Amino acid sequence: MIFIRMINNRIVTLLLCLVCMNVTAAEPDILMKVNLKSHAADIPESLYGVFFEEINHAGEGGLYGELLQNRSFEDKVLPQGYKVEEGSLVPFSTPNYANGRVTPCNFKWNDNPYPGWEIIKGEGAEIDADIITVNPKFASAPSQLRLNVSNAAKGVSLVNEGFWGIHFTKDATYRLRMWLKVKRASNGNALSVKMIDDDAKVIGEDNINLISDDEWHEYTLTLTSSSDAKNGKLSIGIPADGTYCFDYVSLFPTDTFHGRDNGMRRDVAEMIDGLHPAFIRWPGGCIVEGITLNNRVDWKKTLGDPASRPGEYDSWGYRNSYGFGYKEFLDFCEDLGAKALYVCNVGLACTGRTGEYSSEGDIQMYVDDALDAIEYAIGDTSTVWGAVRARQGHPQPYPLAYIEVGNENFGPMYDHRYRIFRDAIKARYPQLTIISDYGLDNKAKAVDGDMIDPHWYVKPEHFFSTADQFDGYDRKSPDIYIGEYACNDGVGGGCMLAALSEAAFLTGVERNADVVRMASYAPLFENRHDKAWPVNLIWIDNDKVVGRSSYYVQKMFADNRPTYNLSADVNIKAETRRQAFLDQKSYMGLGCCDTKAEFRNVSVTRGKHHLELAETSDTTSWAIARDGHRLAYIWQQGKLQEGDIVEFDAKSEGGQEQFRFFFDMKRPDLKEGGRHVTFGGWNNTATGVEGFYGENNRWITVPEQKSDAITPNDWHHVRMVFLADGIDITIDGRQIFTHRTDIIKRKFCTVGYDERNGEVVIKLVNANQRKCTAKIQLEGAHIESQGKVIELKAAFPQAENSYDNPTLIHPVERSYSGFASSFTYTMPANSVTILRTKIK
Ligand code: AHR
Repeated sequence: MIFIRMINNRIVTLLLCLVCMNVTAAEPDILMKVNLKSHAADIPESLYGVFFEEINHAGEGGLYGELLQNRSFEDKVLPQGYKVEEGSLVPFSTPNYANGRVTPCNFKWNDNPYPGWEIIKGEGAEIDADIITVNPKFASAPSQLRLNVSNAAKGVSLVNEGFWGIHFTKDATYRLRMWLKVKRASNGNALSVKMIDDDAKVIGEDNINLISDDEWHEYTLTLTSSSDAKNGKLSIGIPADGTYCFDYVSLFPTDTFHGRDNGMRRDVAEMIDGLHPAFIRWPGGCIVEGITLNNRVDWKKTLGDPASRPGEYDSWGYRNSYGFGYKEFLDFCEDLGAKALYVCNVGLACTGRTGEYSSEGDIQMYVDDALDAIEYAIGDTSTVWGAVRARQGHPQPYPLAYIEVGNENFGPMYDHRYRIFRDAIKARYPQLTIISDYGLDNKAKAVDGDMIDPHWYVKPEHFFSTADQFDGYDRKSPDIYIGEYACNDGVGGGCMLAALSEAAFLTGVERNADVVRMASYAPLFENRHDKAWPVNLIWIDNDKVVGRSSYYVQKMFADNRPTYNLSADVNIKAETRRQAFLDQKSYMGLGCCDTKAEFRNVSVTRGKHHLELAETSDTTSWAIARDGHRLAYIWQQGKLQEGDIVEFDAKSEGGQEQFRFFFDMKRPDLKEGGRHVTFGGWNNTATGVEGFYGENNRWITVPEQKSDAITPNDWHHVRMVFLADGIDITIDGRQIFTHRTDIIKRKFCTVGYDERNGEVVIKLVNANQRKCTAKIQLEGAHIESQGKVIELKAAFPQAENSYDNPTLIHPVERSYSGFASSFTYTMPANSVTILRTKIK
């Protein structure tokens, strides 16, 4: 039916299609023929691990159990040679090894003289406070807070606010440890220690009788919390006039992961444990290199009594207390049953910071340092560092299996140093696997037997389009450890789309596990209060831990690692970017920008038929959207298919551009979603296609245009033929151009056999916003019809877990009885699916 309608005194002739244009294809989206008798690449136990770096307060106020900030009063210590300028920390100038020039840089600096601490006094009380370093208890961590107190009776307390508040749990116990030197007339009153809740109510307290002899004494207490607090504090009441030097004040929950004294926060550690990591990479990342070399992680300073550790300013803008030190890392590996991967510095600082480099003569010092680290972990107890380990309570060797030579270093200096390091390490510890920094481009530089470590921080599209990149990897090239990877661009703070792209990438990793032998997502943690990196795997608040959708992808792949891959013939239906991003509902319409235009004779033809057309009486369907630029006249539910022909007449009043045709739009106001054809745009010099599909509505295509002009105030006839991969555009019988959309990949799969359970394991990823089908043919063995499905899905690609809804997206397991030698499984939109069943 054709109808005519007046809008704003303009005549609009419309034909509306009421037919849903989605057609279910009989052909499956994935066809997978699996040879159950085959035995393709073995999938090593080492494949899925984790990478911990002190970034985003991952450890400090995160994984590491310490509840107090700046417990050693060392936080204001500048790295040697640095200065504070205009509130920022500025390193000394030094040439960068990458280009010989000085790289200017500066870093966050806390202007509080006692970060984490507050000195509170009642009226009339007097306090002289200072950070001093004379006669320290620990020469290696000499800073102390000295308080000279008079009129203490008026009330004086020293309060620590923790890392953005302290989380206390009702009935939980906390261990306080303090080094204090007091000088006053007599031992006097006891010092009171109080746990305070969010409303300043005391929820736990005890007293300490002080020895006032001007000598250092250690005091310990166990406090019990009478109720919960999310943003609690610890308050130390000063009982009497005198001089008090605090060298160290530490508070730990007694309930740490594996009950360790200097241990990890249980709930956070359990999230890592939940990934069953095969290895842990430590300590970085950029912090291995340091802003300058003297600011690198110095593992030897991370050993021993936590009170004696100096810590170091961290490249990510705060102080690393070194509480989660080398030994804690090795202990943690043991607790998790993971191998240890230690990354050493090669005498090169981070090239993105200063890029400082050691002299040639100093290289040996760095080599020795790496060898000492290895000796500490696995050396015999008769060796110097093996003996230190034994003295520290661990005579048995730790599970150190990998050494990475540098982090993200490159260029001739790195090439030279890598060889020196690897030869020295290999000569003494041939059993260790050595990992170089090289990415795929420089893989030929790696010594035979060493692994390379490419890193990827990318957009979703990158992982989607390179998921099969290892299929063609030359098997004679070095094995690969993907030490850092994440989809972190164009996905906000992280979302299902990112997780789906990582899952796609991991199908390629797992299928090629004969060469890609290890992988670890990065970064692992993001503290809610300090985000230095755009997207991270696990979010930490004082009282909560949230696994992002990507966390659950990691977990699903790690929990369902087959023993070996099975050979499969896989046929995945090709699709255009347009198809992939279309969901069931889409809208098309007409409009213009900065001008006025009229339209008539709008029609959509499919095959020989005009689609059934009707006037709508629903005024909402007329969505007259004004945003100052765009006026939408019509909308239509359904999507334009291959072969559809859209025609209309249009007349503009002239201007920068004449009129637009919108299609694949997500909303009836035509403001979000697909693409549009701009006719007589770019100051009436061209006609072209612009637009965006998915990925946070970012523009992902360069506008494709063809020179052309549209005469204003004349009616023009537009005819557009929709092709499988584009649109053919004609104006007044003049063919303007054929716009082609690109072929993209949004469906992925891999299959393996799990020997432990006698099960075939099929992994399917559907990153489309529509359901897709996988036809799976399992040949060569008997298949149990009853198995299980583990499914991770989201309602839309931008969906993500949150602190309020931490498991909105999480794997759901259910039994499934549809397994057969040939069966078709429907994958939900935006999903990762694992199918498991027994075979005989
Ligand atoms: O993971 C965050 C950082 O990214 C790492 O410190 C560094 O290795 C990479 O550049």
